[in-house]
Amino acid sequence: MEAEFWRQRWQDNQIGFHQDRPSPLLLKHWPSLALAVDSRVFVPLAGKTLDMLWFAAQGHRVLGVELSRIAVEDFFAEHGLRPEIAESRYGLHYRAGAIELICGDAFALDAELLADCAAVFDRAALIALPPPLRRRYAGELYPRLPQGCRGLLITLEYPQHEKQGPPFCVGEQEVRALYARDWGVNTLERRDILAQQPSFVAEGVSALETIVYALERR
Ligand SMILES: C[S@@+](CC[C@H](N)C(=O)[O-])C[C@H]1O[C@@H](n2cnc3c(N)ncnc32)[C@H](O)[C@@H]1O
Repeated sequence: MEAEFWRQRWQDNQIGFHQDRPSPLLLKHWPSLALAVDSRVFVPLAGKTLDMLWFAAQGHRVLGVELSRIAVEDFFAEHGLRPEIAESRYGLHYRAGAIELICGDAFALDAELLADCAAVFDRAALIALPPPLRRRYAGELYPRLPQGCRGLLITLEYPQHEKQGPPFCVGEQEVRALYARDWGVNTLERRDILAQQPSFVAEGVSALETIVYALERR
């Protein structure tokens, strides 16, 4: 998906992926990573997710990146936060308390910027991308995270021919192939969620599962 596609989605308020609470699977599985409280968590393709607020409430520091300025500004405005704004080669950095959200392109972030990230959280990021961009995301961006970095990846699986993405179906075999070179991949949970997703049912999707993986950078 090109940048313009996502900017237009935000412009038109077509943001059905946005949740009005932190991801339940994040709350369930994050403690298993046993991270130090003041760890910095990288949140790629962040949108205006409330997961960032949840991380800050745990004592973590957050580094998010999001293309859409509407998403970034809404995030701070909707939570009564008044960010300081500074520019760098990565884009516009909005900072409030423990949360830093860069309005920019995730693919432009380098190892120097990400060196301090002990953790990564992907909900609706990998699955937002078509196959060639998924390969760039896992093969170019993730290797810039430091050794020992741990995280969660949440994906969807459904018969891809029954619906067009995004969100795309990204099967377990693909996940393992994408990350196998640099990351340990451990499946934590597989859950049938079709009954909770009426929009998928309405589009004729016959099966839908969400899968949670733990990742650890070697
Ligand atoms: C499906 S949404 C998920 C947002 C968030 N993770 C959530 O759970 O609500 C994908 C987001 O990625 C952003 N995005 C897409 N490509 C991007 C890129 N190359 N760099 C930064 N953000 C990007 C889009 O603007 C969109 O907000």
